[in-house]
Amino acid sequence: MKIAFAAPRLPRSGTLVVAVMEDRKLSPTAQKLDQESGGALTRAMAASRFTGRGDDTLAVLAPAHLDVSRILLLGIGKPEAAEPVARQNRGGQIVAQLNAAGEKQAAVAIDRPGGEAAEIAADLAFGARLRAYRFDKYRTKEKPEKKPTLEDLTFLVENPAAAKKAFQPRDKVADAICFTRDIVSEPANVIYPETLAEAARSLKRLGVAVEVLDEKQMKKLGMGALLGVGQGSVRPPRLVVMQWKGNPKAANAAPLAFIGKGVTFDTGGISIKPAAGMEDMKWDMAGAGVVIGLMRALAGRKAKVNAVGVAGLVENMPSGMAQRPGDIVKTMSGQTVEVLNTDAEGRLVLADALWYCQDRFKPQLMVDLATLTGAIMIALGHEHAGLFSNNDEMAERLVAAGKAVGEKLWRLPLAEAYDKLMDSDAADIKNISGSREAGSITAAQFLQRFVNNVPWAHLDIAGTTWSKKDAPIVPKGATAFGLRLLDRFIAEHYEG
Ligand code: BES
Ligand code: MN
Ligand code: ZN
Repeated sequence: MKIAFAAPRLPRSGTLVVAVMEDRKLSPTAQKLDQESGGALTRAMAASRFTGRGDDTLAVLAPAHLDVSRILLLGIGKPEAAEPVARQNRGGQIVAQLNAAGEKQAAVAIDRPGGEAAEIAADLAFGARLRAYRFDKYRTKEKPEKKPTLEDLTFLVENPAAAKKAFQPRDKVADAICFTRDIVSEPANVIYPETLAEAARSLKRLGVAVEVLDEKQMKKLGMGALLGVGQGSVRPPRLVVMQWKGNPKAANAAPLAFIGKGVTFDTGGISIKPAAGMEDMKWDMAGAGVVIGLMRALAGRKAKVNAVGVAGLVENMPSGMAQRPGDIVKTMSGQTVEVLNTDAEGRLVLADALWYCQDRFKPQLMVDLATLTGAIMIALGHEHAGLFSNNDEMAERLVAAGKAVGEKLWRLPLAEAYDKLMDSDAADIKNISGSREAGSITAAQFLQRFVNNVPWAHLDIAGTTWSKKDAPIVPKGATAFGLRLLDRFIAEHYEG
């Protein structure tokens, strides 16, 4: 789908999208069309349930005097109350509607004057791009009538150059989101630690410094927990380290750090998972996918910030080489871990990745993302990701950023009483508490044992990283949850 911005004009073909506010109040363009056609739009609305609420749409065959084939009335509710996400959602809806209708080209009339129009157009276009995403490279026999049809989407604004400029950074973030969705969607025979590291390496062309540590280097660093998870697989583990230095003025200041769980497939290991639904575990690397995508977004939009991304990449397999329940491993921090369940592997990977990151970069803050626990879905379903933090200000900033972009977080507690549950009789810590209670919290407590005195937050994205249904700007499948949130968090508070 091609997106363009142009000066207002009456298009010659395709669909013309016009806005309608709450209570069927027509935007100026809609009003003009209505008058010219003897009230055709008013009649169409009266004959339907369309009220102009944001999320209402109504397709009308174009009145005879027009060259276009269709008019799409787009409900926008109360325009003065419209938040960026609401606008993005409208953009997503346009794409969904037009594809359902089989339309090839469309123009969207934006009636607002001045600078606001550019922002509106840019947000609509961003939402349109996100909804248009599809992972269909393996559907070689899909019937043409099932494929999306929309090829050209043009936004008509007074100042197209300003709209294009406003869209530019959003376009880069959308590129990054699509990139993350792609790598998360790829099956585990295609994306495994080495190939995921290659995907991260592709960020070099955008100016990101990328290092990939192999098994030997990680052994030397003492990453016994991460390596223990990977030892059952024929696919060797990798640790990806990415640096974006977008703020040279602060070159000596501590960077922001983002750490991702990258389990390219999680069978559970010797503590093997049941067969039903195990295929979902191809997306157990989504935390890493988001961290890599975030670095791509920052580099793409040339964010004035210094950020580090670390992704721990392993495949968790059972085999004669695999680690056993009861094994004790030594982490890079020096702490020993009793591995009572090989399926609680994400925390083992993160233990070494977090420690490495804080040890090497002395970051001003760390955020990790992980599809860490099934329990987070029991607590929060698919509506919120779990947030854990040792720092109230940071937690509040993350919650606010999540609200602003529509990737909602819900904070859960950390406390000494939960921490105690992870004490082991045989080692410094065990990797499961031994009870199902507070499963997401005890997992977070485990991580916190590997975090020193640095502001840190952990996002448990197990319930939000994959969607079973279409949402306005998130088609079903990989969501890239966390990327827009962290991009916003950075833009709002940390860009120089
Ligand atoms: N990757 C899973 C968590 C998960 C489950 C993500 C379902 C998405 C959907 C994680 O490695 C895991 O297996 N966690 C265990 C922990 C348990 C053994 C303490 C879990 O949640 O069951
Ligand atoms: Mn697991
Ligand atoms: Zn896992």
